[in-house]
Amino acid sequence: MRNDISYSDSPSPASGPATQASVTARYSNSIMNTFGTPQRVLVRGEGCFVWDADGNRYLDLLAGIAVNALGHAHPTWTSAIAAQLGTLGHVSNFFATTPQVALAESLLRLAVAEEGGRVFFTNSGTESNEAAFKMARRTGRTRVLALEGGFHGRTMGALALTAKQAYREPFEPLPGGVEHLPFNDEDALVAAFEAAIAGEAEPIAAVMIEPVQGEAGVREVTRNYLLTAQRKCAEHGALFILDEVQTGIGRTGSWFNYLQRPGIKPDVVTLAKGLGAGFPLGAVIALNERAANLLQPGNHGTTFGGNPIAAVAALATLHTIERDHLLLNAERIGAHLRNRVNSANLPHVDIATGVGLLIAIRFTAPIAAEVQSTLLEAGFITNAVTPQAIRLAPPLILTTTQADTFVEAFSHVMSTLKVEDSE
Ligand SMILES: Cc1ncc(COP(=O)(O)O)c(C=O)c1O
Repeated sequence: MRNDISYSDSPSPASGPATQASVTARYSNSIMNTFGTPQRVLVRGEGCFVWDADGNRYLDLLAGIAVNALGHAHPTWTSAIAAQLGTLGHVSNFFATTPQVALAESLLRLAVAEEGGRVFFTNSGTESNEAAFKMARRTGRTRVLALEGGFHGRTMGALALTAKQAYREPFEPLPGGVEHLPFNDEDALVAAFEAAIAGEAEPIAAVMIEPVQGEAGVREVTRNYLLTAQRKCAEHGALFILDEVQTGIGRTGSWFNYLQRPGIKPDVVTLAKGLGAGFPLGAVIALNERAANLLQPGNHGTTFGGNPIAAVAALATLHTIERDHLLLNAERIGAHLRNRVNSANLPHVDIATGVGLLIAIRFTAPIAAEVQSTLLEAGFITNAVTPQAIRLAPPLILTTTQADTFVEAFSHVMSTLKVEDSE
């Protein structure tokens, strides 16, 4: 496709083509310093690979942090977006569009929502959680339980739900009423509900849980914990909310992670990331009538949410995942990759863990940043998610050969890495 817009080192016509060094320098002079120095300047992607401005190729095992479910420049996805752009690009939410309605219907079907379930579209994960938080307030109660280690986003409401002190502190006071419970501690959860039922504490509006905590290093909340939370919420009239922003849309090997947990059915699910597969889009699914009716006309809104381009991007994503059996692929390739790493007995590697293609490789020492940068030099994009773990969240189209290529490079990196022994 032709593109006549120049991104070179303008405005000087004498300046040369954009290189990593030149764009990085322009970046630091033009973009706020919230993300640190970029690791590379990326110019092109195809399938599971991306290329930098100096022509180097990388196997992308992070996929824009669990976003590019179909990899880069997938033909079904790009042609659907291009066709919609040439038909109807944007309308206000005073009007309906067919793609938006079709997407809502698909999500309700995939989530196995009850009659009366409804969807609200957003543009990001934090906005989806912000909307869910507002739904919780509309129960007439203000107390929300969330988990230590949970990450729900950076806007003020989502930040109030997020546990990490370093993210919260600079912005306090945050919206009140949120309490963070110890991870996977059913006794603490039951005690919080019992105090509310006994009238010794405020009634609980909602429990918000990330079923596999991605940013905390890929930690799975147990099925039993989820079952207890669900049962207690039902008994007490609280909303049971799952944040599937990172785990949803195939990442863990099913459309939603809760579908892999027999007996679990939340009232509300929040989505973003893989839903648009690279086109910004989020969604809040209310799975039953009660949850669906919490937000009434005037209670919430968005200019872009559910825009027809975003909606066709998501419809193309869902269609391709279904057509190409990518849920099965995520489950199989994820298990294959973890098994290969675990059976290699590599130095400094504790375990490769995770679900589907949301994977953490944990180390016995705080070497994740060094492993990440060494892998990058070798042509592999990964993420040092904690000091002692790298995270992989590759496209769902990752092949066995690509996974094997990574395992071989990773084995070489681990065998040659010089680690000051703190084990
Ligand atoms: C579980 C979870 N919730 C919410 C968010 C926030 O999403 P966004 O960055 O799109 O606002 C993230 C992002 O990493 C996430 O992993």
